[in-house]
Amino acid sequence: MFQSRYALVLVPTLLVAAACSRGPAAAGAAPAPAAADVPAVTPDAAARATNAAKGAFPPGWRFEAGTEATFAQNAMVVSVSRYASEAGVEIMKAGGNAVDAAVATGFALAVTSPSNGNIGGGGFMTIRLRDGRTATIDYREVAPAAATRDMYLDSTGKLTNKSTVGYLASGVPGAVAGMTEVLAKYGSMPLAKVMAPAIRLARDGFVADSNFTRGGACSRLIAQFGGKDLFCPGGNAVALGALFKQPDLARSLAAIADQGAKAFYEGWIADSLVAEQMRGGGIITKADLKNYKAVWRTPVEGTYRGYKVISMPPASSGGVTMIQTLNILENFAPLPPAGSAQYAHLVGEALRRSFIDRNAKLADPAFARVPMAELTSKDYARTLAMQVSKTMASKTPAFTPTVPESEQTTHYSVVDAMGNAVSTTTTLNGGYGSGVWVRGAGFFLNNEMDDFAAAPGQPNMFGLVQGEVNAIQPGKRMLSAMSPTIVVDPQGRLLMVTGAAGGPTIITATMEIILNVIEHGMTLADAMKAPRLHHQSLPDQLDYEQRGLRAEVVDSLKAMGHTLGTRTSLATANSILRVRGGWHGVAEPRSAGTSAVGY
Ligand code: DON
Repeated sequence: MFQSRYALVLVPTLLVAAACSRGPAAAGAAPAPAAADVPAVTPDAAARATNAAKGAFPPGWRFEAGTEATFAQNAMVVSVSRYASEAGVEIMKAGGNAVDAAVATGFALAVTSPSNGNIGGGGFMTIRLRDGRTATIDYREVAPAAATRDMYLDSTGKLTNKSTVGYLASGVPGAVAGMTEVLAKYGSMPLAKVMAPAIRLARDGFVADSNFTRGGACSRLIAQFGGKDLFCPGGNAVALGALFKQPDLARSLAAIADQGAKAFYEGWIADSLVAEQMRGGGIITKADLKNYKAVWRTPVEGTYRGYKVISMPPASSGGVTMIQTLNILENFAPLPPAGSAQYAHLVGEALRRSFIDRNAKLADPAFARVPMAELTSKDYARTLAMQVSKTMASKTPAFTPTVPESEQTTHYSVVDAMGNAVSTTTTLNGGYGSGVWVRGAGFFLNNEMDDFAAAPGQPNMFGLVQGEVNAIQPGKRMLSAMSPTIVVDPQGRLLMVTGAAGGPTIITATMEIILNVIEHGMTLADAMKAPRLHHQSLPDQLDYEQRGLRAEVVDSLKAMGHTLGTRTSLATANSILRVRGGWHGVAEPRSAGTSAVGY
């Protein structure tokens, strides 16, 4: 049964911080024993980290606590693909900064991780420069001009699968505009130089690794469209260990490297993309491509126990929802230990409340008034925290809309030797997006249109319901959950770069990794391996990873009224943490082939 050893004391935030003996950065605390500074270096820190991990890792959990991270003294790239991480490091070793490296990694992912890395999709990037300046860029896809509110409904008003599969499912891609724009503003190298590794990987090929083959290359989805011959040679998937070349993609990348984003949005690549659309009734036009703009946005910032959290504002919900949840949790001093029923209950209840707001109120700010200041305020979080019972789960009101998400995106984290940091999440939405492959130009188009409320107020094809605020409108960005995040310690130093793939679980997993480090004092390796939880308000259930909670914890949560759901795996994160003398990089242990590379 639930034991209330940890009082849910509601006191003003600063007092909470000061009173929080577990938070390494308790305001005013003497030399902060931040996990980041002392991972397994001093006996105290090692013991604290080990204890936190021991409690959080139940018997039978798939990962071992206490393993090492990749250490590098100078710089680090963590992504789902070793080739892409190496591309970023190659650029930094050649004198590039973190932005140069992030762009190199992003283009390389489009080659070596085509299920999620892309030039036919979009993403979000959060940047923090060594002098403390921050920026975010939104290169999310937009609905084509000919998109209509009901374009995915059949004559009886039922949702079809056209928002997920095939020619109509794509938004106008933003990745090339975003990556070239960010390089022009904050990079130090020419585009051709940072794109060289990607072009080489596409032209000369790379050896198919477990990240590439895990992505389901030659799935039924791909085999329906133009990528069949390349991805299903002789009708079979490219074998692990085979050399895989993409000459069409190499030509596209070389054209972008030579002429910039114009080659993609106005040149022959645009012609190929539109010709491909016309083959199957797609609606993206040359005008849509020419009109596409990436948007610089003011980062959304919050604090948690004195640490600053910098993340992505709408059109992504990621930063707002994560900060809102952290603000709610901050009212509980200290949080119960990771792995306990009390902790899972509080995390679930906090997430429930912030997802209710997310699903009803967040959307592209060019089309909706988004109450950012209210949702991220400490006062509002306090009123929500006061509604949380310490013994009983609450219920999500039935009308609360929620969001459909599928399972393929990719996050990468970069720091350079100067202390600049870049956190990027990019996606085609589903694995290989819409499945449509642009013949002649060699890349997949996204199925991001499914992130809109294709049928506001009605369950969509996944049984989920979304709000009117996120309905389809021409030129509008569909609401995202991507949460590229950077954390700064109370002394103003870069601490963490993190983020994840996994639809709405992106927000939860990113937040939990941050909590594991700064609240529970885990090393980054343990923080990444610790079992994850998720609640998104509807369906009204607290999800946990299989064997990720002790049996007695599951019983306690049920007794408190939680409906529990299990998932085999929850989110794919890639993170970096500052440690004494350098950086720890940890690639997602739940996925094959992910890779932290540093020097
Ligand atoms: O933007 C979003 O929130 C979704 N399109 C992300 C999808 C996703 O993460 C699927 N991944 N693993």
